[in-house]
Amino acid sequence: MEKQRGSFTNKLGFVLAAAGSAVGLGNLWRFPYLAAKYGGGIFLLVYIVLAVTFGFALMVTEIAIGRKTHLSAVGAYAALDKRFGFIGYLSSIVPFIITPYYCVIGGWVLKYFTVFLTNQVAEAAGDEFFTGFITQPAAPVIFFVIYAGATALVVMMGVEKGIEKASRVMMPLLIVLTVVIAVFSVAQPGAMEGLIYYLKPDFGRFSATTVLAAMGQLFYSMSLAMGIMITYGSYMKKETHLEKSVRQIELFDTGIAFMAGLMIIPAVFAFSGGSEEALGKGPSLMFVTLPKVFNSMKFGTVIGAVFFLLVLFAALTSSISLMETLVSILMDKLGWKRRKASIVTAVYLLAVGIPVSLGFGVWDFIAPMGMSLLDFFDFLSNSVLMPIVAFLTCIFIGFVVKPETIIEEAEVNGELKSKKFYKVMIKYIAPVCLVAILIFAVMEAMGAIAV
Ligand code: PFF
Repeated sequence: MEKQRGSFTNKLGFVLAAAGSAVGLGNLWRFPYLAAKYGGGIFLLVYIVLAVTFGFALMVTEIAIGRKTHLSAVGAYAALDKRFGFIGYLSSIVPFIITPYYCVIGGWVLKYFTVFLTNQVAEAAGDEFFTGFITQPAAPVIFFVIYAGATALVVMMGVEKGIEKASRVMMPLLIVLTVVIAVFSVAQPGAMEGLIYYLKPDFGRFSATTVLAAMGQLFYSMSLAMGIMITYGSYMKKETHLEKSVRQIELFDTGIAFMAGLMIIPAVFAFSGGSEEALGKGPSLMFVTLPKVFNSMKFGTVIGAVFFLLVLFAALTSSISLMETLVSILMDKLGWKRRKASIVTAVYLLAVGIPVSLGFGVWDFIAPMGMSLLDFFDFLSNSVLMPIVAFLTCIFIGFVVKPETIIEEAEVNGELKSKKFYKVMIKYIAPVCLVAILIFAVMEAMGAIAV
């Protein structure tokens, strides 16, 4: 089994590859628009608190489950207890929902890379450029198909070759460039107000919605509650220190999200005035704001092109690991060969991704619960399914398998320092919070229907 699944060649390989999965559009595209929308500093604070408590416990759990069972999510839960195999199935629905729309956004990134390559930075800095693009019938679909095809190709080639190599080279470069752009953004006239908005928590803006949004983002960004980290854990060697790895991945992931916010939010104030409307743009925020930044930068065209290239790679490592999960489920469950599983998955991606892409233009009449198709899938996975999976995982580990089993696995190589904390978190705090979050999410959605 081990041989067939492949395994990461060394410790750094694991952390980098798992970070490659964790760091992606969630950090660069999704985090900044949520932080901008939900009050800046208060969102950032809630997010960080959740990451080091709740996110930490859940990530330790998932990686340990994977490493212990050597299986991906579907098999792993069942291997621990037959009656709970359904959690595995439930968690594996999530990447089925996310992957198609993830590739649609990957296609947007690809488009912006070509825009900068062909020196159209001034056009892209215009307010209507992005909307003009996504509402077209053909162009966004074509970019989506190219992007999804590239993802499928790497997955077909196998685990190590694809994921490990790409993330090793691109990740450090991305960090450097993000820092450079953030420094430039912050130095713009008018950006200071944005910096304060982003860094200083305004407790008056704290609400259940902030927590819901931050929690959904946490799952998404750290690839939790969707079986991904279980799959990664199944590739992890016993010699790797689990707790340290988790801390490193979290630091990496949160650090890059933080920098992305620093790059984008002050720029929204500097270039678009920081009004509610400018901050509340949602999914389009990065694509609308960053070209304005590059347009006012010396060598902005080149820097923009390199930047979108690196974002493209960050997105690719993520969509690769998303698709890898889908493929490995089909391989494990149906006994298919990698090639066949990859092709079937690719066809599925196209079948769902194309309507999502068209949902911004010619098919915008499809609006479940008043949302665009993309927002709807995003809501379904991040606000509904993931909290359910996380809740069930906590209950299952806390009261059936027992936290000791996870702790034992985590301690195969070195101590788990936060043992007590881990137990309390997984048994009580996390499940209670998750139920509250879930009720709130459903109520909010009902409200959305009534409107
Ligand atoms: N964590 C990724 C991001 O923040 O973009 C999204 C993701 C990637 C989720 C890979 C799941 C996954 F397997």
